[in-house]
Amino acid sequence: MKYTSIHTTNTDGIVLITLDRPKALNAVNTAMISELYHFFTEGYQQYTDLIGVIITGSGEKAFAAGADIKEFMDVADTAKDFLRTGHRMFDAIENWHKPVIAAIHGFALGGGCELALACHMRVIADNGKMSFPEVNLGLVPGYGGTQRMSQLIGKARAMELMMTTDMLPAVRTVELGICNHLVPVGEVVAKSTEILKKIGTKGPLAIKHIISTVNACFDQTKNGYEVELDAFAELMQTQDFQEGVSAFVEKRKAEFKGE
Ligand code: CAA
Repeated sequence: MKYTSIHTTNTDGIVLITLDRPKALNAVNTAMISELYHFFTEGYQQYTDLIGVIITGSGEKAFAAGADIKEFMDVADTAKDFLRTGHRMFDAIENWHKPVIAAIHGFALGGGCELALACHMRVIADNGKMSFPEVNLGLVPGYGGTQRMSQLIGKARAMELMMTTDMLPAVRTVELGICNHLVPVGEVVAKSTEILKKIGTKGPLAIKHIISTVNACFDQTKNGYEVELDAFAELMQTQDFQEGVSAFVEKRKAEFKGE
């Protein structure tokens, strides 16, 4: 698939996905959704020894200023299908087997904020701002924002945020536990890379199961304790576990193969 709304670059197993619609403040449109879905389900397979992915926005003003409002005008009769296609992509990111970090500068609003929330972690620049402006349009967030934001900051805060459309400054997003780190503008990708490089020294199968077990905590169809138990037992059968234990006993650095 040829990407037109995003572009990707690979540096030593860390793929940087740049949302590439700067004139529309990287608004998340149908093309961007299908390209991101393609990357996280098929496109990534072209890369070997992948550690993780960073998603960022092009231009100076925004990570992404929302779902593309101009596209909304034509989808009223097929709204559920339209949104489900988006949900499928956001779920693919959330459940991806390798870590995904949103590197946010400027506006992360509405669907852009929801995209950041689907990632496993968030690094925000000091000019970053997050908000859910949907009620200004007579809507609610439609790409999982009501759920993921409530999970992160709790019911009362999520209600206020979405009803008032207040714009959260970067420092507040960290205080609330939405973003992991606050860094000077221009350093979001570097900080995200630093985190991924550290993760890249760990057992990849264990990292995959950190994602699945933590996600299970928020999945009402799953018993997270059972998911954890299964993951632990499965990992004990791997060569990575043998290597991790041998390295500890031999007082050397483990070399994991993801096997
Ligand atoms: N969709 C489509 N286009 C958008 C957009 C969006 N969400 N946000 C910005 N743009 C476009 C503008 O239309 C403008 O394009 P033109 O130059 O062709 O007119 C361009 O990006 C630059 O935007 P502004 O001139 O408005 O820039 P600004 O600096 O004056 O304002 C802003 C920045 C405050 C972010 C303002 O653009 C804004 O309020 N954007 C809309 C934010 C919003 O409501 N997002 C939620 C969308 S709904 C949603 O996301 C639903 C969901 O959950 C599924």
